[in-house]
Amino acid sequence: MPLYDAIRPLLFTLPAEQAHHVGTSALNATLSLPPARALARSLFDVRDPALAVERFGIRFPNPVGLAAGFDKGGAWFNALGALGFGAIEIGTVTALGQPGNPRPRLFRLPADRALLNRMGFNNPGAEAVAARLERTKIEPVLGINIGKSKAAPLEEAAADYLRSLELLERYAAYLVVNVSSPNTPGLRQLQDAAPLRELLRALRARAGELAAARGVSPKPILLKIAPDLTDPQVEEAAGIAVEEGMAGLIATNTTVSRDGLQTPDVDALGAGGISGAPVHRRTVQVVARAWTATGGRLPIVGVGGIFGPDEAWAMVRAGASLVQVWTGFIYRGPGIARDINRGLLERMAREGFRSLDEAVGAAHR
Ligand SMILES: Cc1cc2nc3c(=O)[nH]c(=O)nc-3n(C[C@H](O)[C@H](O)[C@H](O)COP(=O)(O)O)c2cc1C
Repeated sequence: MPLYDAIRPLLFTLPAEQAHHVGTSALNATLSLPPARALARSLFDVRDPALAVERFGIRFPNPVGLAAGFDKGGAWFNALGALGFGAIEIGTVTALGQPGNPRPRLFRLPADRALLNRMGFNNPGAEAVAARLERTKIEPVLGINIGKSKAAPLEEAAADYLRSLELLERYAAYLVVNVSSPNTPGLRQLQDAAPLRELLRALRARAGELAAARGVSPKPILLKIAPDLTDPQVEEAAGIAVEEGMAGLIATNTTVSRDGLQTPDVDALGAGGISGAPVHRRTVQVVARAWTATGGRLPIVGVGGIFGPDEAWAMVRAGASLVQVWTGFIYRGPGIARDINRGLLERMAREGFRSLDEAVGAAHR
């Protein structure tokens, strides 16, 4: 959007994490009152029934969500929800509040249209986030992404995730089990078949009990995986997700690969996950693999390097019924959901699809 084109160079003069806070806090202040949010919605919402997607019992007004890690502590989701997103995913929230890794821990790689981050799940903890959600009227479709506290040993991961689930599930439209961040030591080992199955089973069982106690249906739980899994590992994880009753798969998190990056001396920036353009190709492959492995039965959320409608359309055709953005928001600004939604409608019309649903997985037919 033109306004963001003017503001972005100013934000880009600040260190990346500070710019994120300044930008999002300013947005939040501007949109703190419901009438301001209604005005924003009138500017950014693309209302068209052909864009609406219904999955795991939730009606998403459009398929473009904001990915986890943007609003880690659940402080900004109502303002962000007014920018035309079909859903906002907060977190990753951990049972214990934690500061994350030392700064600097977020870097822009403009030559690659990418970010490098090693935030390390900085968040106020599940109890504090629950308290915040309790006193906030939640406006958007809200996903809550949970992860393992750094202090919890890997063998006790399930108990740690369960604590977050117990505190947060009532506020969520859907929950996400994050076992794919590269920035918590050992976390990604939870993607191995045996611990993954055990973790998902425990979470699903508890979500079922909690819902039964309230006389409501259990909250859908999605599994978020890494792009660095091999194809057989993707297929295995997708199969386990189906068998353990997961509502869907989110593909993917950031990559630890530095292959093909143009940024000079990228190794000097240190460890972390790369997001944005460099992950896009692999993410589309992961979506396609998961779709094929599950015969299109498991809803997939495609996330990785979506900057505009072209990348979103590739995800949908590969099998994603929903998409999310993170890095694209930084580079394209607050109009990104509107621009993608408009572009999706154009592509649907051009290729003869009456609804987005009809286009999901079209590349396989
Ligand atoms: C700074 C930053 C922080 C992130 N934090 C989280 C997180 O806490 N939990 C999570 O599941 N994903 C996190 N992600 C990953 C994104 O949700 C997304 O999966 C990934 O960045 C790929 O999408 P993108 O290319 O559109 O950024 C983070 C990404 C970035 C750039």
